[in-house]
Amino acid sequence: MKKWFAVIGDPIAQSKSPEMHNAWYAEMNIDAAYIPVHVKSEDLQQVVSSFQLLGTSGWNVTIPHKETILPFLDELDPLAEKMGAVNTVVRTTEGKLKGYNTDGPGFVKSLEEAVGTEHRQAPLLLIGAGGAARGIAFALQQAGYTNITIANRTLEKAQAIVDEMGSGQAITMQQAEEELDTFKIFVQTTPAGMSTGDFALPFSLEKFPTGAIAADIVYNPLMTPFLLAAEKKGATIVNGLGMFVHQGAIAYQYWLGHEPNINGTIARLTEQLGGKNIVNR
Ligand code: ATR
Repeated sequence: MKKWFAVIGDPIAQSKSPEMHNAWYAEMNIDAAYIPVHVKSEDLQQVVSSFQLLGTSGWNVTIPHKETILPFLDELDPLAEKMGAVNTVVRTTEGKLKGYNTDGPGFVKSLEEAVGTEHRQAPLLLIGAGGAARGIAFALQQAGYTNITIANRTLEKAQAIVDEMGSGQAITMQQAEEELDTFKIFVQTTPAGMSTGDFALPFSLEKFPTGAIAADIVYNPLMTPFLLAAEKKGATIVNGLGMFVHQGAIAYQYWLGHEPNINGTIARLTEQLGGKNIVNR
């Protein structure tokens, strides 16, 4: 029987997930479909019940439902539980709904695909302390990163993540600006530089060190002001497209049991977004 998957969110029209997953089904000759569904917050519970009745095999969850979906699920993967957010739901063979979070692990895969695993002890500055940063912080910690500092405009939010991790430190944007040259890896998670965003980088990059690693989770545009400035200082650049493709690929793997074509998808989407290659070595 044909399997079907979905992504739910509000808004949803901009999501590139349907195109990506449907292309993978076509490439792998899988009889499945993946559809975008516009779901308003007040309809979330009803949509989850309807999906169950209609026999979906799983779905992705995007803004603003990643946290509010939790009460409607039967089980949570430990990392999703720790993050308090779910972006992937799997319908198990017993018909139970299990929540995972593949955003943070998707980021770590993208980063390590670009720069390897040898920097796990290096001082890492995570810029921002929103939902995306939380997921990335826990996934980095799970992958063995031992030296994480979180800088945020609202210091308490950075401190809350550090407290939950039980390690690392929280600093203000001003401190980050002053101590920039003490870090090796930079992970930018604020909406700064998004094509629809309306603010520039939250701090000056004057003290950005040479030869660092700079990652951004934004992928539209592929080159954000942060990445452009880092590139000028000779940094290895990792844009947000790898994270997007990997989070989808990990979800795909939970649903279908094998890995899809990741590099081909990154190349195709890079071209679509009019950018150059994902990583500048
Ligand atoms: P997401 O879930 O996508 O991470 P979010 O929870 O809205 O989004 O978090 C956005 C991040 O960008 C936060 O770290 C936020 O800082 P605050 O916690 O102080 O709000 C940061 N951010 C958003 N607008 C900003 C701005 N104008 N200047 C600096 N930081 C900003």
